[in-house]
Amino acid sequence: MTQSNIVTINIAQKPEKKYDIIIGSNIQQNLNAYLQKYTTAKKFLVVTNETVWNLYKEKIKIDNAKFLILKDGEEFKNIETLKKIYDAAIESQIERKDCLIAFGGGVVGDITGFAASTYLRGVDFVQIPTTLLAMVDSAVGGKVAINHEKGKNLIGAFYQPKFVLSDIEFLKTLDTRQLKTGLAEVVKYAFIEKSCACELNYRFFDFLHANKEKIVNLDTNTIIRLVNICCTLKACVVEKDETEKGQRAILNFGHTFAHAIEALTHYTIFTHGEAVAMGMKMAFKLALSLKMIDKDYAYAGNELIDKYELAGTIPKFDSQKFLDAMLLDKKTESHKLRFILPDADFKVKITTDVNETKIISSIINPNL
Ligand code: NAD
Ligand code: GLY
Repeated sequence: MTQSNIVTINIAQKPEKKYDIIIGSNIQQNLNAYLQKYTTAKKFLVVTNETVWNLYKEKIKIDNAKFLILKDGEEFKNIETLKKIYDAAIESQIERKDCLIAFGGGVVGDITGFAASTYLRGVDFVQIPTTLLAMVDSAVGGKVAINHEKGKNLIGAFYQPKFVLSDIEFLKTLDTRQLKTGLAEVVKYAFIEKSCACELNYRFFDFLHANKEKIVNLDTNTIIRLVNICCTLKACVVEKDETEKGQRAILNFGHTFAHAIEALTHYTIFTHGEAVAMGMKMAFKLALSLKMIDKDYAYAGNELIDKYELAGTIPKFDSQKFLDAMLLDKKTESHKLRFILPDADFKVKITTDVNETKIISSIINPNL
């Protein structure tokens, strides 16, 4: 049986960019109908990776499509792989009205989206995310990129897909670690909910507390609801600030610290979500020491992160190297550190000019 619902993203003053995120169970079987409805394409180039292809090659049936199967891994999100996508698009005679399809996690989504944004000065693309992280974050909102050896996502664009098809059935083959990396981004939405300025009050924090068993066991209705809430919250932010001139930065709660953790551990020890979970703990500690929040909320934040066992044991970092790594991140402005810090229950504030001693203390001892 298929079940689905839709979140629409409607970028302010850009109605031509409006698109639907279709969220459901077993909906990939309707993919050809969705492609007909939402695109003008006669031909498709589907970009995926070896892991996803091996799991789903029997299931994913797309009319008039060629498939490009990339190697699996963040280390392949680079210019060499990008060229392979261009080569395959040329080989498949993809024309302006045709379409690229990203079928995979955030790596496949980001690189395929970037290829689509530049090939023939821009062709349509569709996101079919297969990880939780991609469903709640990377496939939504139009950030597309590749990495440079000097840093992650340094070359990219804002380029919205024609639609996103999130079939939660794909999540059933994710291992626990990959599920948890997505859950870290999910929990992030609980802490920024009120700053997303959506009309609906989800009390997502309470939802996550009440539904842990159903969430980790991938109960269909609960996960559809969860992905829907995350996408709705993200849509509210992206619609008002597509290109991150300001408020979109709140989606990076915990990420200033996380990017340094990932860089210092050479992207090999922790998943992105594990680093984000650690970064959110550091953000709570820093906000508490700056008296932006009270102890109760700082503890409640940590408790939710721990309930889902997202952060693990945070290593002892060299604080100077950590500060240097944060300063190298592309999100710094005029070489100034910028943090997204909690300043009330489920609200965050974009904060600069933070006392360095307090930053160091939150890095060295993030525990409350
Ligand atoms: P990923 O794409 O590397 O996928 C994680 C692993 O899961 C990979 O080994 C992949 O092959 C495997 N996998 C994918 N789907 C599967 C399935 N259904 N069953 C079993 N295994 C499956 O990583 P990710 O966590 O999805 O995404 C991380 C990437 O997303 C990073 O490159 C990051 O920079 C990017 N990102 C982008 C945004 C954005 O807004 N564009 C936001 C967050 C992260
Ligand atoms: N993942 C952060 C953003 O889309 O802005």
